[in-house]
Amino acid sequence: MKKTDFRPRLLCFMCQWCGYSAADLAGTSRIQYPASVRGIEVACSGMVHPEWVVNALLGGLDGVMIFGCHPGQCHYGSGNELALARSEVITEALLDMGIEEERFALVWVAASEATRFAQAVSGMTETLRKLGPNRVSAPVSIVPGQPLYGMGEHGFVRKVEEKNFYWDGNVYNDHVSAQRAISRYLDSDFEAKLVPCKGKILIYTRREAPGRERQ
Ligand code: FES
Repeated sequence: MKKTDFRPRLLCFMCQWCGYSAADLAGTSRIQYPASVRGIEVACSGMVHPEWVVNALLGGLDGVMIFGCHPGQCHYGSGNELALARSEVITEALLDMGIEEERFALVWVAASEATRFAQAVSGMTETLRKLGPNRVSAPVSIVPGQPLYGMGEHGFVRKVEEKNFYWDGNVYNDHVSAQRAISRYLDSDFEAKLVPCKGKILIYTRREAPGRERQ
């Protein structure tokens, strides 16, 4: 396929209060943006689980964007702060899995910023066109000596001590809150690990099914 024929498949998770409204306004205002963009409305950017992004890219989509309200404008207080912290981990995981970090973007937008929305998706589409099709479309399995991140039976996993653990999707800013959360997992018979990442703390969990080890 010639690069000029390539129409990137871009998935956008859009906060209902900003990105979705901005996309709607762009449509009613007849502001042009690529027709290959697909959107999913979410209540808040903070509810987009990192697995959704990683799985979409591992599944063969060419790019994923999350649109959230501007800093200080989240209707649920700090959902966009959580989205920002998660985006840093998502980027690290993508790089580890051999996926270009440019295939993912988190963008702040207001409901009235239809032009900003259209420019963001057009810019991302152009970036993806230059990158070419996403070649990482097969599940990545974790084997000793290979990258830390990959896909397990139930989704996106990280290897800890040669076992597959699943990120709970939260980002903890301090040890007290992380310890409180991990205690709840341990009390519920999960195996759980604290993993430092970019100055934050993440929790990865796993639980073995009766008579069968979880992948
Ligand atoms: Fe829009 Fe939280 S409500 S990012």
